[in-house]
Amino acid sequence: MRTPPSIDRRTFSTWLLAGSAGPLAACDPGGLKGMGGDAAAVPEANEAESAPPVPAVKPGETLAMAKSLGRGINFGNALEAPRENAWGVPISPELFDVARDIGVQTIRLPVRWSNHALAKAPYTIDPAFFERVDFAVEQTLQRKMKLVLNMHHYRQLDGQATDGRKDKSFHLDKDEFAVEPALLHERFKAMWAQIAERYKSLPRETVLFQIYNEPNYALTPSIWNELAADTLAVIRRSNPERFLVVPSINWLPSLAKLQLPEADPRLIVDVHNYQTIAFTHQQLQWMDPVPPAMPFDRKVQDKILEELDVMAEWVKAHRRPIWIGEFGVSIGTDPKERAAYARFNRDAMESRGFSWAYWDLAGEFAVYDPKARRFYPGMRDALFGA
Ligand code: BGC
Repeated sequence: MRTPPSIDRRTFSTWLLAGSAGPLAACDPGGLKGMGGDAAAVPEANEAESAPPVPAVKPGETLAMAKSLGRGINFGNALEAPRENAWGVPISPELFDVARDIGVQTIRLPVRWSNHALAKAPYTIDPAFFERVDFAVEQTLQRKMKLVLNMHHYRQLDGQATDGRKDKSFHLDKDEFAVEPALLHERFKAMWAQIAERYKSLPRETVLFQIYNEPNYALTPSIWNELAADTLAVIRRSNPERFLVVPSINWLPSLAKLQLPEADPRLIVDVHNYQTIAFTHQQLQWMDPVPPAMPFDRKVQDKILEELDVMAEWVKAHRRPIWIGEFGVSIGTDPKERAAYARFNRDAMESRGFSWAYWDLAGEFAVYDPKARRFYPGMRDALFGA
């Protein structure tokens, strides 16, 4: 059984109050292995000064990259569980076939690296786990989909540590281990140094790295802005030209406080839209309280549009693209309401020029049920149909 993700975000009373290539090298299944994937040689992470300058882009190039992500899907509840298969979604070729067959252009692959790396320097990532991620990367690229590879659910980094707080939101997940708190940021950067090195030869037209999922709690705007800049510098040492995805802080509310390194034009911002939590998270047992069934009514629609308007304003003001890397509605929702939600979001995002990735393919917000081997009613069409 999975434990709740960042429960605080989903405490819906809080939300109610807030209103709220080149050749595809990896097509060769052996390709990754020969691509600098030497997990034993852990690159240094603390030499941000030595990052090369980021090459300039042609006008509109980063925006074009963001647009090319098109219609995507999250491979949720798979590699971001504390252990593979713990949350019920296998990394199976069948699921990659499903994604390709329904017309997915981009797979967002959430990965919990933090539970698969040494607790102390040099924080080596487990080679066997790297191979599982390699497999998912290969499966994606072989089917000619794009990939956003991220770091997800580093609970302790978010402040969800075993530090005596009574609030159950601040506990690590079952089977997750804690490290010396003073090492957290160094460990984060060191893991990125390894990931970036391993995948540096993958085509930059097809593969993007997202430095983190949803910074929140302990990752306040000032802490996150600094950590993000340092991490980007670490990644740039091996991947000067790759397009990188940086998440908004605290979902939408702190987007205005996000600071990105001026000298790096190859950045895309990921903002998630679960408006309204009462609607999108209805019937989920890990919510506290569990939101009851409700329809996809006008109020919910207005909230979605409000968020999109804030994002569109930000894009205009900052001249950087936003990609909506998550939105979704739980499988316990009435099928007609789910499909209406999915279609409404798709149209609203696309008419404003945003690419998107639905959360998720086969988990608790799924489009497809891997056990029954069937699609949830209406979802495939609503998201990917004509
Ligand atoms: C979390 C998932 C969660 C989803 C919807 C994602 O960001 O990583 O664990 O199910 O949001 O709440």
